[in-house]
Amino acid sequence: MRTVVTGGGGFLGSHLCEALLRRGDEVWCLDDFSTGDPRNVEHLRRTPGFRLLRADVSRTCDLPVRVDAVAHLASPASPPDYHGMPLRTLHAGSLGTENALRLALRDGARFVLASTSEVYGDPAVHPQREDYWGNVNPVGPRSVYDEAKRYAEALSAAYRRTHGADVGIVRIFNTYGPRMRPADGRVVSTFVCRALAGEPLTLYGDGSQTRSFCYVDDLVRGLVAMLDSGSPGPVNLGNPAEYTVADLARLVLALSRSPSPVVHGPLPVDDPCRRRPVITRAHDELGWAPRVTLEEGLRRTLAWFAPAPRAQAAAAVPRAPVET
Ligand SMILES: NC(=O)c1ccc[n+]([C@@H]2O[C@H](COP(=O)([O-])OP(=O)(O)OC[C@H]3O[C@@H](n4cnc5c(N)ncnc54)[C@H](O)[C@@H]3O)[C@@H](O)[C@H]2O)c1
Repeated sequence: MRTVVTGGGGFLGSHLCEALLRRGDEVWCLDDFSTGDPRNVEHLRRTPGFRLLRADVSRTCDLPVRVDAVAHLASPASPPDYHGMPLRTLHAGSLGTENALRLALRDGARFVLASTSEVYGDPAVHPQREDYWGNVNPVGPRSVYDEAKRYAEALSAAYRRTHGADVGIVRIFNTYGPRMRPADGRVVSTFVCRALAGEPLTLYGDGSQTRSFCYVDDLVRGLVAMLDSGSPGPVNLGNPAEYTVADLARLVLALSRSPSPVVHGPLPVDDPCRRRPVITRAHDELGWAPRVTLEEGLRRTLAWFAPAPRAQAAAAVPRAPVET
């Protein structure tokens, strides 16, 4: 198998590249490192079968070799990233997805789109099944990400209907683990880094909003199962155990034995109140279910961040990237 991973230099993509190499795939990692980090794949550079190409998939995704599968993960994904790069985010979802689809169609390859639970917006239905169409503000600040992914789903489905492309869509719910960037503005990495540094943990509003947190190894197993299946999806991939953000803060503080105080800040615009996937379809079509508990996953994540907590926590105050 020759598998292309767009966004393979990012958090999820680098773990996916590793998993695919472990089972013997040849992996072509395409990344422009706009939000990823070359260090995520540095250890793979000498692995036989691994190729790294620096490329903006919104411009081109053409490869000089025949490919068997394309996993399309390239997109800014965390709120500070997509707020800071609104147009690039829209382009990754639209132009980038179409370029990746064309590559897959050219070679009759399997194509998997990494979509997101954000397509459900601030959901009026709870928990979220794949047949729920969502509640998204099309002009709010988050829309550059949510609507880009909704468009990417529509485009992928149209390629399947129009050209018979072998397309599968996964909707990923909050995933965490080693290689998250400390400053990526996502709740788990922020809480972990600040707890390790003894800095305050900020709850937006009263912290009663819920999220479902999936450990990265579980998520990657689901992505590989989707690549290997013929399922068109969409399929939710996430851990249905639901926690309030306040619960998460308490657990991080307990596991890290941190003296950090908890403080409160204003709720961001369009922040979803509740999130929990129904994963019956993933179970039935992919034989998939998460295995790692939040407590165990947080232990592993804390262990990964622990060696340089202060430097990382100092960086954990998100800085908005600049659109280019
Ligand atoms: N991590 C999560 O919880 C989560 C949840 C839902 C969906 N997703 C989706 O999974 C994918 C990976 O997310 P992640 O958490 O690993 O984020 P990430 O920012 O770590 O990884 C994204 C990667 O894509 C690259 N990239 C961005 N635009 C590109 C472009 N135009 N051309 C080439 N490369 C480009 C970045 O440099 C980065 O390496 C994204 O599509 C994201 O929307 C992630």
